[in-house]
Amino acid sequence: MIMEDSVDVILQEKTLHHAQERPLVMAASGAMLMASYGLWTVFALPGFRKVPTSLKVPYLPSSGVQTQNVMRLLQGRRGCLADLGSGDGRLVFAVSSLGFQCTGFEINSILIGYARARARWMGIPTAAARFVNEDFWKTDLSRYKNVTVFLAPGVMEVLGRKLEQELAHDARVIACRFPFPHWHASASEGQGLDQAWAYDMATVRRLLT
Ligand SMILES: C[S@@+](CC[C@H](N)C(=O)[O-])C[C@H]1O[C@@H](n2cnc3c(N)ncnc32)[C@H](O)[C@@H]1O
Repeated sequence: MIMEDSVDVILQEKTLHHAQERPLVMAASGAMLMASYGLWTVFALPGFRKVPTSLKVPYLPSSGVQTQNVMRLLQGRRGCLADLGSGDGRLVFAVSSLGFQCTGFEINSILIGYARARARWMGIPTAAARFVNEDFWKTDLSRYKNVTVFLAPGVMEVLGRKLEQELAHDARVIACRFPFPHWHASASEGQGLDQAWAYDMATVRRLLT
C-alpha cells in the first residue's frame, strides 16, 4: 500500500513537472522558428519588394551535380555569360573557370556582397566574374551569348518571351531543374532535380509554335 502510494506520488510529480515544462518548450520552439524565419527572410528576400508577386523567386543554392550538368552543356561555347539570379555566385565561379566572362545578376544585396567577397578572396578578376545588384527583368540581355537560369516553374514562360525578344540567334540558354514550357531543347544532361536543358535560340525560334 505504502509502495503504491509512493509510485502514485512520483507519477503525479512527473506529470506536474512535464506540464510546467511544456509552455517553456513551446515558447522556446516558437522563438527558434521565428528566428529561423527571420534569418531566412533576411537572406532570401531583400530587394524583392520591387518584383511583382508572380515573378518572385526565392534563393535556393544549386547542387554540385547540377553545376556539372550546366558545365557539360556549355562545352564548346565561349564569350559573355549571364547567370540570372546568381545567389551566392557558385555557378558563376564554376563557369568562369571555363573561360567565360560571367555576370551574375542578383536582386538580393546580401548575396551580392557575399559573392563579391568570395570572388575577391578566391582572386577571381572582375573580367571573369562580376556581380551586379540588378533586377534581370529590367535588364537588356541582348549582349549575352550564354545565359544560365535556375529559377522557378511559374516564371519560365514569361522569361522565355523576354529572351526570345532580346537574345541573338547564336545564343544558348541553359535552364536548371525547370524547363521552358514551349521551347525545344537541343540537349539535356542529368535527371530529376539536377537535370539541365540547353536551348539554342535559332532552333527555339524555328520550332516555336
Ligand atoms: C533558385 S536561386 C539560384 C541561385 C544560383 N543561381 C544557384 O544556382 O545557386 C534564384 C536566385 O535568383 C534571385 N532572383 C530572383 N528574382 C530575381 C530578379 N528579378 N533579379 C535578380 N535576381 C533575382 C534570387 O534572389 C535567388 O538568389
